[in-house]
Amino acid sequence: MNKNRLFFLFFASMFTLSSMLFAQDAAELPGDPVNGKKIFNAQCGACHKLDRRMVGPALGDISQRHSMEWIIAWTRNNAELRASGDRAAIAIFEEYNGAIMPAFPALSDQDIMDIVAYTIEGDQKKVAVASGDGGAVASGTEDKGMNIWVILGLAAFLVVLIAILVKVKNTLKVIKGEPTSTLLEDSTAFTRVAVRNRKVITIFTLVVAVFLLKELYLGLMGVGLEQGYQPEQPIAFSHALHAGENQIDCQYCHYGAEKGKHSNIPSVSLCMNCHMYVQEGSKYGTEEIDKIYAAVGFDRETSQYIDGYEQKPVKWVRIHNLPDLAYFNHAQHVNAGNIECQTCHGPVQEMEEVYQYSPLTMGWCINCHRETEVDVKDNGYYEEMHEKLKAKHGDGKITVEMIGGLECGKCHY
Ligand code: HEC
Ligand code: HEC
Ligand code: HEC
Ligand code: HEC
Ligand code: HEC
Ligand code: HEC
Repeated sequence: MNKNRLFFLFFASMFTLSSMLFAQDAAELPGDPVNGKKIFNAQCGACHKLDRRMVGPALGDISQRHSMEWIIAWTRNNAELRASGDRAAIAIFEEYNGAIMPAFPALSDQDIMDIVAYTIEGDQKKVAVASGDGGAVASGTEDKGMNIWVILGLAAFLVVLIAILVKVKNTLKVIKGEPTSTLLEDSTAFTRVAVRNRKVITIFTLVVAVFLLKELYLGLMGVGLEQGYQPEQPIAFSHALHAGENQIDCQYCHYGAEKGKHSNIPSVSLCMNCHMYVQEGSKYGTEEIDKIYAAVGFDRETSQYIDGYEQKPVKWVRIHNLPDLAYFNHAQHVNAGNIECQTCHGPVQEMEEVYQYSPLTMGWCINCHRETEVDVKDNGYYEEMHEKLKAKHGDGKITVEMIGGLECGKCHY
């Protein structure tokens, strides 16, 4: 059985390879890079990248340029560090023309150590991929490199799995003394059995028919006239560039979503946090960014705001619009419900221009309320209600429907 041995060898090498990959991840670090990445993306990623200068310096090599104490002191409150006369702090501040990095007094020492661990690990992976792929992938980024490994691994696994299944099946037949069969022969045998059993066919047809009718009904309820609506905007603002490539957190701009009914559209003065310094784009050069400057009254030549300029708000065209009779609240869904923006708005971080992804019909709201479980863990508000519902419905799942999410008055004034 030479083939079996080959399979075994293949499996063993795949296993070793993957454990080597994982072992690399677990190398000793002073902090937790996974947590660090989370904090970095949420709080630093708007201005810093690991591998290139953005609003602030690249942080990939920060651990080689400063001591951990310095990084902690700087991150916690850089103004205080500068005031103490620290030379390095004053120098970097001057190098960046006095751009203000906010203070982060709420971050613990451990949090900052985690961020630094992430800046180190992010780099190591990049190096490993660049040198380990034997030139097959031209300098892929960290994420692309990992994806290729995962895809290769999965593909190899599938091939092996199918081969083993066919092998096992035929071996069983050989043991029983039956002739071995191909996939095609198997399926014609199935049709013959079905034809002999009319009842089976009838029931099968019924099930399919009911299923199709149900889909049709739900489809009708879900026909959204505005779905896909994608108007042209006054400034060529790209979510793919800001939220995708530059990984700016959605709520850095749409901070209203967490707190209230509306998810605000940011004002141009928020854009200026970065565009005071980022004065040219790679696609449109100065053309589109000048529209921001025209709105707030900023002079590109002097890098100063113009005195006494009357600001003109940018007139963004609204894309999502429920009729007045319906009530929708973002905080209820984003905060209490813990639902990702993308569940309702689709992959916004990949959109050059935003379009309406979901139908926004009543059927759409209701379907989700029927299916979605309420997150009752660590949710003080629901604890009491949860106990009552448990008594009523047994220990099964508690959907939004059960807490009253289908009552007309909840969504209609
Ligand atoms: C609003 C933009 C902004 C945010 C958000 C921000 N930074 Fe900065 N950071 C800067 C700027 C600008 C500088 C350059 C120094 C200066 O002008 O103050 C800087 C400098 C630094 C430096 C010194 C780099 C060097 O080369 O000496 C470190 C370290 C740093 N930031 C860490 C962080 C960390 C960690 C976070 C997140 C917790 C963060 N920054 C969030 C803008 C920002
Ligand atoms: C740098 C600021 C910024 C970031 C970050 C950002 N957005 Fe936006 N968003 C805007 C601006 C400005 C508009 C209005 C212009 C437009 O529609 O493109 C907008 C529009 C939208 C709209 C359409 C609103 C309407 O008119 O109905 C949605 C939905 C949206 N953003 C979701 C997201 C999501 C989800 C993310 C995170 C993946 C995100 N945004 C990140 C600035 C931002
Ligand atoms: C946290 C930082 C940040 C904020 C906030 C921000 N941007 Fe940007 N923006 C960038 C960066 C970085 C670039 C990329 C420059 C480049 O192409 O290299 C950019 C590029 C652009 C470009 C040029 C695109 C091109 O390729 O020519 C436009 C237009 C733009 N931003 C509009 C806006 C608007 C409008 C807002 C406010 C709603 C905004 N930005 C808020 C960081 C930011
Ligand atoms: C449960 C679905 C759902 C989730 C989750 C959700 N949205 Fe919305 N969003 C909507 C609906 C529905 C509207 C239209 C509201 C209206 O017209 O009153 C909307 C409208 C918007 C608008 C236009 C302004 C407004 O409030 O009317 C923006 C911007 C927006 N969403 C951004 C976000 C961001 C950012 C997140 C994540 C933090 C998010 N949304 C999460 C369903 C959702
Ligand atoms: C992706 C799933 C999803 C969609 C789509 C959705 N919801 Fe919800 N909704 C939830 C969840 C989950 C909760 C429970 C949040 C919580 O824990 O309070 C909720 C709660 C609510 C509540 C409060 C119900 C109560 O009894 O407290 C209202 C009102 C509501 N949604 C309105 C809407 C409207 C209007 C729409 C459509 C425009 C909509 N929802 C679309 C998931 C969704
Ligand atoms: C989870 C939220 C939700 C609940 C619960 C809900 N609706 Fe609606 N309803 C909506 C939304 C959103 C719209 C607007 C959708 C649209 O225009 O397609 C709407 C639209 C309507 C309309 C207008 C339809 C039209 O074509 O203009 C009527 C009538 C209506 N609902 C009746 C009801 C009744 C009666 C109930 C209770 C049995 C109910 N709704 C419960 C969200 C809800």
